[in-house]
Amino acid sequence: MVDSRFLRACCRQPTDKTPVWLMRQAGRYLPEYRALRERYSLLDLCRHPELAAEVTLQPLRRFPLDAAIVFADILLPLLALGIEVTFVAGDGPVIGQPLRDPITVSRLPDPDETELVPVAEAIRIVRQELPPEIALIGFAGAPFTLASYLIEGGSSRQFLETKRFLLRYRTEWELLLQQLTDLTIRYLRLQVVAGADAVQLFDSWAGALAPALYREAVLPWTQRVVREIQSLGVPVIVFSTGTAGFLDVVAATGAEVIGVDWRIELDWAWQLIGNRAIQGNLDPVWLLAPRSDLNRAVQDILRRAGGRPGHIFNLGHGVLPETSPDQVAYLVELVHEWSFSPQD
Ligand code: CP3
Repeated sequence: MVDSRFLRACCRQPTDKTPVWLMRQAGRYLPEYRALRERYSLLDLCRHPELAAEVTLQPLRRFPLDAAIVFADILLPLLALGIEVTFVAGDGPVIGQPLRDPITVSRLPDPDETELVPVAEAIRIVRQELPPEIALIGFAGAPFTLASYLIEGGSSRQFLETKRFLLRYRTEWELLLQQLTDLTIRYLRLQVVAGADAVQLFDSWAGALAPALYREAVLPWTQRVVREIQSLGVPVIVFSTGTAGFLDVVAATGAEVIGVDWRIELDWAWQLIGNRAIQGNLDPVWLLAPRSDLNRAVQDILRRAGGRPGHIFNLGHGVLPETSPDQVAYLVELVHEWSFSPQD
């Protein structure tokens, strides 16, 4: 195996410093990203491998991060199902025709892979440009979070339509999740073949569910994606938010790494997930705070990790657009500098 801090941590092997990367490390807080966005839409960036590769590498040129994440969006695979997705500034993503009628599930077309290929191409370009010790992460939405966008038609607070669909039309729900699972596996397989060293599944809205419902109606599908990707020989990170109350069930996905948000203390989260690596979990808002407060928050997380192998430092969710790049530079330096050595 290449001697990558990030990949070693995924396998809970000791590292010289705690590896660090940040969700949404490419994006609006970077002036060079905003400059590109003046000329191209988000979808343009995702559909042109050279542009996506460029955006992926932007944060790596600024900060000594231990991993890059390919620039794309979790909703891209929906385009492969012929579903219209637009990104409206300020409103987030909007789905052309939300899926509310159970009959439409059986009418979803076979995925058109041409929508997925540019992401794989971007991975090829980035992998060639990155030094071997810097890992390249591929990603996809987990089936539940993808289904929630499809059914709600966009972002949601209550996930009422999604839960209602799940509870009323269980057969169609199973069929829908099966199709999204198959699509996700195909998409991630393309990414791994193109050179992704690890894969993160974003189950960002899993916390909308009670543990029993997650276990019953969601977990088996995420498990299936995890197993398929592991069979290709790369580690999987499952990230979710609002799941502090059932992290043990999230760990049952079988992923090597469990990504946690900031709503739980890292050592307690680690106890709940057991023999897994852990990724997290600084509240992104600390990057807007004075450095003395940021210092304390970072120190607290590193102390709770206690130098145990298998901690990947990250935020508990994505970098906020209001963040100063200088603060990100400071954070990355801090994590590397203050990492406990394994002997500590
Ligand atoms: O650097 C990276 O992290 C890679 C790029 C990335 C994007 N989206 C690009 C993007 C990743 C990993 C995602 C994942 C994603 N997309 C998730 C899961 C992670 C999470 O945040 O929970 C979700 C739920 C989405 C769906 C989505 N896409 C939303 C809710 C939004 C709007 C929110 C916002 O920040 O405006 C998007 C748009 C989007 N995807 C942006 C970026 C950089 C901002 C849009 C822009 O440039 O105009």
